[in-house]
Amino acid sequence: MHSFSYVDGTLRCEGVDLGEIADRFATPAYVYSSATIRSNYRRLDAALAPLDHLLCYAVKANSNLAVLNLLSKLGSGFDIVSAGELFRVLKAGGRADRCTFAGVGKTREEIAFALREGVYSFNVESEGELTRINEVAGSLGLKAPVAIRVNPDVDAKTHKFISTGKSKNKFGIGIDRAAEVYQVAAGLPHLKIRGVQTHIGSQILEASPFAEAAEKLAALVRDLKQAYDIEFFDFGGGIGIVYDEALESGSPAWWEAHGSSTQRITPEDYAAAIIPVLKPLGLRILFEPGRFLVGNAGALLSTVQYVKQTPAKTFTIIDAAMNDLIRPALYEGWHEIVPLRQSTNEKTVMDVVGPVCESGDFFAQDRPLAPLHPDDRVAVLSSGAYGFVMSSNYNSRPLLPEILVDGEKFHLARERQSLEDLVRGESIPE
Ligand code: LLP
Repeated sequence: MHSFSYVDGTLRCEGVDLGEIADRFATPAYVYSSATIRSNYRRLDAALAPLDHLLCYAVKANSNLAVLNLLSKLGSGFDIVSAGELFRVLKAGGRADRCTFAGVGKTREEIAFALREGVYSFNVESEGELTRINEVAGSLGLKAPVAIRVNPDVDAKTHKFISTGKSKNKFGIGIDRAAEVYQVAAGLPHLKIRGVQTHIGSQILEASPFAEAAEKLAALVRDLKQAYDIEFFDFGGGIGIVYDEALESGSPAWWEAHGSSTQRITPEDYAAAIIPVLKPLGLRILFEPGRFLVGNAGALLSTVQYVKQTPAKTFTIIDAAMNDLIRPALYEGWHEIVPLRQSTNEKTVMDVVGPVCESGDFFAQDRPLAPLHPDDRVAVLSSGAYGFVMSSNYNSRPLLPEILVDGEKFHLARERQSLEDLVRGESIPE
């Protein structure tokens, strides 16, 4: 569900005309809908209500302080993967004791910072990390709460770059070795075993891989519960969203027509697949949704610069680029592109590309879209997750502003970088 729709031919985010945002802050710019984030959070939270559960928003999906603050006010915990993400959560008013700290490469400094702040759990990915956390905790006179990330060897049926739960992936401890590694943890004096964690991948559109992972893990968790003081099972994130037909998918009628298809997982499908397996565990269940909460809540606004006709193709060149949204280039991600002002039902086949000097710098290829002209403005939809956070200064392009809409109001949640910002901290030797 989301809050982007046309009113009298003009694209709006909630009660705000996106043309007004583009006039005010210029393009390219990211816009997020508070109502969408709230409604996604509440819908998932309600679907999982039969479980004693906590949603720990995966900060990596969108770490703007305003977004984190909104989620924190809804009661969300946070899944963090770096000291930087913990710092952001705290700045945004979030609580460390509702944070799980994941990631295969935690440094000593990051571990110490998280221990001092009192994170709820370290999700541990290797024996080396267990030893390191034990040492750092010992040196600070603290006990570190840990969960071991277990890799269930399940095929998440998603893009290979974002599949994490196969035994060939770098993540977690293989399920057949998990019991042994828990024993190692139990022997380390500055650790407190608190839970079990897993995460099989991202943009998963079917319920079956989740059900399979839940079943595989449930048996292990039951055994571990006999031996240790296990308080929670963290089931990770990964619920996929609709990218094609993104605009239509905002309406309840669309979901009625398409919602039950296996390719469009809903929070209710997800809950139905796992609750019967997870509830009998009698534990607190954590979830780490990222994309589901914020993906459809974001749009990247951009202005057409040129339309270039070659014998092979029509290239519509816009002012946003792969450095602003890398998903098409990196994962062949498909994002719906719509004009801010609807004009005609006519379509022409085009490539929508950015100004960066790479052929991978595209937003759409061979796509039928309403004809676009220089100065027309477009929205690249469903870019609220893994959009701004993965952007870079490549080609010395300043990072974009982020605007959070709430009803009729909007707030500049991050300023556009200036040219001076681009060189801040750099110097030339004497
Ligand atoms: N928990 C862990 C341990 C994760 O690694 C991730 C995502 C999540 C939770 C959240 O997953 P989500 O609910 O958002 O699917 N940049 C890629 C996605 C990378 C996902 C990385 N891990 C993309 O744009 O598709």
